[in-house]
Amino acid sequence: MCGIVGYAGIRDVVPILLEGLQRLEYRGYDSAGIAVQDHGAIHVVRSAGKIERLQDKLAGVRLPGQIGIGHTRWATHGKPTELNAHPHSDCGGNFVVIHNGIIENYSLIKRGLQERGHRFKSETDTEVIAHLLEENWDGDLVSTVRSAVSLLAGTFGLAILSAFAPETIALARRGSPLLLGIGKNEMFAASDVSAIRRHTNQVIYLEDEDLAIITPSSYEISSLQGTPVRRDQQTVEWEIASAEKQGFSHFMLKEIFEQPEAVINAMRGRVLDQDGTARLGGLDTVRDQLRATDHLIIVSCGTSYYAGLIGRYIIESHTDIAVEVELASEFRYRNLNLKQGTVVLAISQSGETADTLAAVREAKRKGVAVLGLVNAVGSTIARETVAGIYNHAGPEIGVASTKAFVSQLTILYLLALLLGRERNLSISEGKQFIAALQSIPGKISQILAESDAIRDIAERYAVFENFMFIGRKYNFPIALEGALKLKEISYLHSEGYAAGEMKHGPIALIHPQFPTVCIAPQGESYDKIISNLQEIKARSGPVLAIATHGDQEIARLADDVIYIPDIEERYSPFLTVIPLQLLAYHIANFNGREIDEPRNLAKSVTVE
Ligand code: AGP
Ligand code: GLU
Repeated sequence: MCGIVGYAGIRDVVPILLEGLQRLEYRGYDSAGIAVQDHGAIHVVRSAGKIERLQDKLAGVRLPGQIGIGHTRWATHGKPTELNAHPHSDCGGNFVVIHNGIIENYSLIKRGLQERGHRFKSETDTEVIAHLLEENWDGDLVSTVRSAVSLLAGTFGLAILSAFAPETIALARRGSPLLLGIGKNEMFAASDVSAIRRHTNQVIYLEDEDLAIITPSSYEISSLQGTPVRRDQQTVEWEIASAEKQGFSHFMLKEIFEQPEAVINAMRGRVLDQDGTARLGGLDTVRDQLRATDHLIIVSCGTSYYAGLIGRYIIESHTDIAVEVELASEFRYRNLNLKQGTVVLAISQSGETADTLAAVREAKRKGVAVLGLVNAVGSTIARETVAGIYNHAGPEIGVASTKAFVSQLTILYLLALLLGRERNLSISEGKQFIAALQSIPGKISQILAESDAIRDIAERYAVFENFMFIGRKYNFPIALEGALKLKEISYLHSEGYAAGEMKHGPIALIHPQFPTVCIAPQGESYDKIISNLQEIKARSGPVLAIATHGDQEIARLADDVIYIPDIEERYSPFLTVIPLQLLAYHIANFNGREIDEPRNLAKSVTVE
């Protein structure tokens, strides 16, 4: 959700801001705007809707200037209108601000400002910041920002221009990501590195309470409280090409096809064939806690939560560790007795999900070791956890998570191997485990090769409006994930259920217009899932089965079957999820949906 881009340099700023905002579109937004400074004077152009509308407005306007800021808004306070779009300015137009986050005490501040004569133009919480800057102006932009921000409660990533400080952008961060990009005679600011990656791979991730000032030739970082701060410059690993579609019609489809590579990248350098175990360098500092723990709590949201549910099965089946998996948004309501030996693992692709970050902070307050499994390098969760593992899956642009999910599974399986081998798992069992993981990229590729056949099946199911997905054991979370994929990009109602629960209620839904996707690979739970399938067919419910190559019996029972290569049941989630991703993609595409930017959704939910 929402996005910030800033530039101070020697080039024409408007194209740089617009390109940066376009690269942030995937994060979800409803309006956009830019502010350009030219010899002190600040010009603001905003529009509701997509960036194309902002571009149309800019087409007729000459906006010279080499300093500017741009914003894509995901409305929290005030409708997504042009008037509420950022940037927002003070009464005199001398301060212009863009903001990611929520100012929780804005009503009280706004009332006070209005009583002191300030005139507001928007319904947003953000606008109070511009007026506070005006009211606190003391001749120095840094101290003015410190004074104004000290009055705010809530979260913000801010970029500020002032007519009194030409050639300067002020940035402040509390709870919403911000980073600097370091160029040659030019500096950048952004809420996500993809906005500026084409211009530089040298970045500095700001931390909460940081205040930064950038000019075309310099940057300076201090704290909002006025103390000096030191932040390391880092090199971004991935090329800009990996944040582009490269011939695919949607980022989601590209990322579905990147999954063999995602598994390989997650395993790279982390498998010790000779010892039949894994090496997760990011956990070295907590090896003793991991070796000693008998209680692991996984906290995450959405697809990352479903990955955690599978992580529970695989870790519990290879160790004596009791694993709980908690929705991060519910974690705060539990009065968990976090014993000293407990370890908490936060799983988050973006590393910025507010609910998961809140759970991390709550667990840290209780004094236990909190680890991160994160894709976005330098993200808040990555930096606030004491240790962790990066996915190295590259940027995931599609709002619907796919490659990050199989990457999360890969790392959870490597963690299970590592923990298991430090307990009772034998070296030969470890080697078999590794061999199975190494076979997965090739098996995923076999399924991807069937994408056109899956599309043909999907188009037959695109006419239905309600779906159920059922699975057992390792594939119960896959049923949940399949239902989420379909609902979030096609807007069709779909429920994921533990197949054993069918007779406890859901079977009442079965109807000729209510198809069930039945995940039924060969394995321990196969016979029971076949019984579920027969119960559904006995009530004339259509069934689309996901089954193991060569399974003829299921072909006699189900209306349609999508086959996956043979694999041991415990590894089957890597494969059973692929047809469900493609099913959701092709149904949504057939129905003309905005696949990469589904309505109301954001790639990273940075508000609670
Ligand atoms: C998944 O397709 C959704 N985009 C959403 O459920 C997502 O998994 C959830 O918001 C968690 O995001 P995170 O992994 O970045 O924390
Ligand atoms: N709360 C601000 C608004 O509603 C900013 C929302 C965002 O993060 O985009 O305008």
